[in-house]
Amino acid sequence: MKVELPEVTAQTLGAVCKLDAEANDYVAPNVYSIAQAYFHPEAWFRAIYADGEPVGFVMLEDRSLRTDPPPEPCVLLWRYMVHKPRQRQGLGRAALQLVIADVRRRHPTLKTFITSCMPGPQSPRAFYESLGFVATGEKDEDEDILVLDLTQPSGRAR
Ligand SMILES: CC(C)(COP(=O)(O)OP(=O)(O)OC[C@H]1O[C@@H](n2cnc3c(N)ncnc32)[C@H](O)[C@@H]1OP(=O)(O)O)[C@@H](O)C(=O)NCCC(=O)NCCS
Repeated sequence: MKVELPEVTAQTLGAVCKLDAEANDYVAPNVYSIAQAYFHPEAWFRAIYADGEPVGFVMLEDRSLRTDPPPEPCVLLWRYMVHKPRQRQGLGRAALQLVIADVRRRHPTLKTFITSCMPGPQSPRAFYESLGFVATGEKDEDEDILVLDLTQPSGRAR
């Protein structure tokens, strides 16, 4: 399966906005994220495609894209979703590995890549942990914060 992270275009916007994780407590609709990105220069977003079909969406908060960037880079996974019928097929893992590789390439001095997720029965925490993210014990509002140590080689933690 060929997994790619193309830019969202005028031609693909509709298809990307139709993708639905069916997990409204865990991730905002893609149309909302893309609208939000319009107001946030630090938003970096891509579609997730598998074999030429749209299957998901990713948005980062990359503070180096701000008009007043901080001295040290800081990158957070802001939104991440795979379309419900395409979940549990390895696509989320494959695409996040591409995202991590891209973050490493664009920010070679970045030490950690940060995400957060809601606790609860449908929480994706185990998904992130399987990719090497570790819970810090801190919270961002109601969400658990997890970090990936980019100073270590990429790969599955367990
Ligand atoms: C979380 C999500 C992106 C994972 O994508 P996916 O394509 O289903 O994940 P994969 O098939 O690549 O799964 C990779 C591993 O994570 C595990 N996993 C996937 N989703 C999981 C979940 N919700 N809870 C626990 N484990 C999960 C899988 O079992 C798999 O482990 P394995 O290889 O040992 O079997 C997807 O389920 C999703 O969009 N969920 C709803 C929205 C959401 O929660 N987004 C995250 C917001 S913080």
